[in-house]
Amino acid sequence: MKIIVTGATGQVGSELQALSQEQDRHEYTFLSRADLDISDAAAVQQLFHQHSPDACINCAAYTAVDKAETEPEASYAINVKGVKHLAEACSEHQALFLHYSSDYVYHSENSRPIKESDPTTPQGIYAKHKLEGERAALQAYQRCIILRTSWVYSVFGHNFVKTMLKLGKDRAELSIVADQVGAPTYARDIATVSVSLLDKIQELQDPESIYGIYNFSNAGQTNWADFAKAIFDIKGITCQVKQTTTAAYGAPAPRPLWSVLSHDKLKAAFGIEPRHWQLSLEECLESL
Ligand SMILES: NC(=O)c1ccc[n+]([C@@H]2O[C@H](COP(=O)([O-])OP(=O)(O)OC[C@H]3O[C@@H](n4cnc5c(N)ncnc54)[C@H](OP(=O)(O)O)[C@@H]3O)[C@@H](O)[C@H]2O)c1
Repeated sequence: MKIIVTGATGQVGSELQALSQEQDRHEYTFLSRADLDISDAAAVQQLFHQHSPDACINCAAYTAVDKAETEPEASYAINVKGVKHLAEACSEHQALFLHYSSDYVYHSENSRPIKESDPTTPQGIYAKHKLEGERAALQAYQRCIILRTSWVYSVFGHNFVKTMLKLGKDRAELSIVADQVGAPTYARDIATVSVSLLDKIQELQDPESIYGIYNFSNAGQTNWADFAKAIFDIKGITCQVKQTTTAAYGAPAPRPLWSVLSHDKLKAAFGIEPRHWQLSLEECLESL
């Protein structure tokens, strides 16, 4: 398959690049923001005409959750309009479209794993635009797979794991939020599952019923404070973790307190079971 990957220098995009060096099944074109700005409709069209891809994996996103509260236009241009441009181009070229969304679209108050069919009640600008982006994609084109994921980290880019490693070495104690529960998700696992899904869809005789929205996160659950402790334990860092609350931390954008995602739909459709977050964390930390 000829696969184009947008936003290729982000966490998931970089993991896809690393993965592609270990597999030679597909012909990839990795596009940074400088290569293709997805908010530019004409540039997207031109790029698709040039490459005629069989699939597009969209790793491009506006991910500055707090900044989105004061920059809604920038968030909208990328997370809604940009996604629409790609879905329309995929439709024109009959290419599979794989896109990522967020647990923030649910903003759930459940205490059981959230299903894809559960209500969406996004609270902040980023969350609202991620949901609008999903809808724009599905409205433009039926052959979309949208993976809603959570708490992404990687050896690449900026993320909680790398911040903890840096701060944990410098400080004796850190206050970390303990009332948000979810599953940290290794971007390498997102990259791996993404390629597996494209492979599996290609093998299906009649894939029409398989398109749509799926949750994907690592298995298990934790909170940010315990996640930090796990990072310190694995790395032998002695920094103490003091628990705090979301309200006391006071970030500009609202955060869901419950983000544990059900994987039942993914398992039923594709036979894929995500591995436990602790196993993925250990693997990531070995590389850091
Ligand atoms: N990170 C998380 O915790 C998390 C949680 C749930 C869901 N997600 C979703 O998962 C997906 C991947 O996230 P990630 O963590 O890999 O994101 P990331 O590391 O922030 O990467 C996003 C990439 O998009 C690029 N980009 C931004 N605007 C662009 C534009 N107009 N055109 C083309 N590229 C553009 C960025 O380039 P520059 O850096 O050059 O701007 C960057 O390379 C996103 O859809 C995100 O919403 C992430």
